[in-house]
Amino acid sequence: LDQENVGSLKQQIAKLFEESLRLTVPEELAVEPSIAPCQNPKFGDYQCNNAMGLWSKVKGKGTQFRGPQPIGQAIMKNLPSSEIIDSCSIAGPGFVNVVLSQQWIAKSIQRMLVNGIEIWAPKLPIKRAVVDFSSPNIAKEMHVGHLRSTIIGDTLARMLEYSNVNVLRRNHVGDWGTQFGMLIEYLFEMFPNGEVNDQAIGDLEAFYKASKQRFDSDPAFKERAQKAVVSLQGGEERYRTAWKQICEISRRGYNRVYERLGVELEEKGESFYNPYIPGALELLSKQGLIEESEGARVIFIEGKNIPLIVVKRDGGYNYASTDLAALWYRLNEEKVEWIIYVTDVGQREHFEMFFTAAKRAGWLPAEDNKYPKASHVGFGLVLGEDGKRFRTRSTETVKLVDLLDEAKSRCKTALIQRGKGEEWTDEELDRTAEAVGYGAVKYADLKNNRTTNYTFNFDQMLNDKGNTAVYLLYAHARICSIIRKSGKDIEELKKVEKLVLAHPDERVLGFHLLQFAETVEEACTNLLPNVLCEYLYNLSEDFTRFYTNCQVVGSAEETSRLLLCEATAVVMRKCFHLLGITPVYKI
Ligand code: ARG
Repeated sequence: LDQENVGSLKQQIAKLFEESLRLTVPEELAVEPSIAPCQNPKFGDYQCNNAMGLWSKVKGKGTQFRGPQPIGQAIMKNLPSSEIIDSCSIAGPGFVNVVLSQQWIAKSIQRMLVNGIEIWAPKLPIKRAVVDFSSPNIAKEMHVGHLRSTIIGDTLARMLEYSNVNVLRRNHVGDWGTQFGMLIEYLFEMFPNGEVNDQAIGDLEAFYKASKQRFDSDPAFKERAQKAVVSLQGGEERYRTAWKQICEISRRGYNRVYERLGVELEEKGESFYNPYIPGALELLSKQGLIEESEGARVIFIEGKNIPLIVVKRDGGYNYASTDLAALWYRLNEEKVEWIIYVTDVGQREHFEMFFTAAKRAGWLPAEDNKYPKASHVGFGLVLGEDGKRFRTRSTETVKLVDLLDEAKSRCKTALIQRGKGEEWTDEELDRTAEAVGYGAVKYADLKNNRTTNYTFNFDQMLNDKGNTAVYLLYAHARICSIIRKSGKDIEELKKVEKLVLAHPDERVLGFHLLQFAETVEEACTNLLPNVLCEYLYNLSEDFTRFYTNCQVVGSAEETSRLLLCEATAVVMRKCFHLLGITPVYKI
């Protein structure tokens, strides 16, 4: 299978130009090929943009070339012959336009149909990565910000996994820190005989608030709470047990959300890295990075007004010291090459600062294009209809489970209105409502550029027209039904029938299908899931145009066109899968 995987289409074109540039340009001027899809499809499919840049390098230095255009000509002439390319032309100051061979596009799609879409997996220069995402804080309600982190992080992990990267999906939960002294002391008060029952503290958020109130109003309680932190950190049995109980109740709550969303995560919370903090700080200290400032131990970062505090004035560790230790652990124990952190943009400063510290310590290379690499994936707020932070009347934050329930029940109602209540079994109805409802919530989040705020709106995300998961899932189901209704055995057709792209709309669709690999590659290297959403939406538009203008069932081209339908469905399904959306096959 690995032999089959030749990299994305763009990579294959780049390889051809790489060879041509080697022949065209003197060795000391060696450049990477700069390849982009043509702005105007009238001129071709891809263009090579190197001529202008090369001209500015050789101009006035006794070159044989007399301008960028002759350089372009030479690049074109030196292209090795390849079945991928049908024709080339030069435009403007030396752009080399490439038109792909129709037969080759058709052949590549057919090969994917036979061998599976895994052969289109992008090739990335790394083997192992951490995606640090979701990461709620124990005893505090998981809020919509954590939902965004969960959805975005899961997609990034899926795209990397598809690209054959071993992904460590890490839930960096906030399970350590001074608030636990207060929580434990309150737990002792509520359950003096030590028998904690879940139901009684089922609402951990309320429990947190009540204990906080005790802490703020009763000095004796406060003192006990502060001592409790010391006992917990000293490993005293009774305190460890209480801490574990609190974590476990929280954990059960958020596992319910992950289960619904179909998200897999491995919890390695802040507490896990606690034993590694002294060693990590010692290393930084030896390099002279840590200084004393107003009783705290800090790292000064150039260009920042405030230093990064790594040991508080009371001697305790904090969020930053934990993150430094976790980074050390991931680099040295887990040997990962890329660490991706998914949180709201509000935490950008924190990440910038500790990444800079790690670079100064030589843990990470100074250049951002080298591995090992650490990246912060920041995202904007979820807003309500009123333009303010999204919340409901009853609680300050929105309970995630309620939100998913509502999406599902609205979808179910819509399906029943379409008459599916009589047609389908209850189970089918339920499963479809879930796939569409949860898919809609995810897609509404992922389709925006993650750095912008987005407004949570059920009516919009559940609309069956426009750029929504509902529309896309139905489009996919319709393709499946075209194939089903043809009565043909598609598995058989794949092997014996030939795919031909004769009509211009077939050609456009076929080309778009082939751009799947480079799209996933771009989405995961730039950490932008919206790039894949846009691709998926355009794919369904290209399909609609094809289907409107080209008769499938009953036409002379029926078998070829059914193969094109199948290829579209396969690629759409892979997009859904990468976005964490369950496809539906019937509507
Ligand atoms: N628990 C944090 C929060 O809710 C997010 C943790 C992100 N990961 C990290 N390694 N800092 O804001």
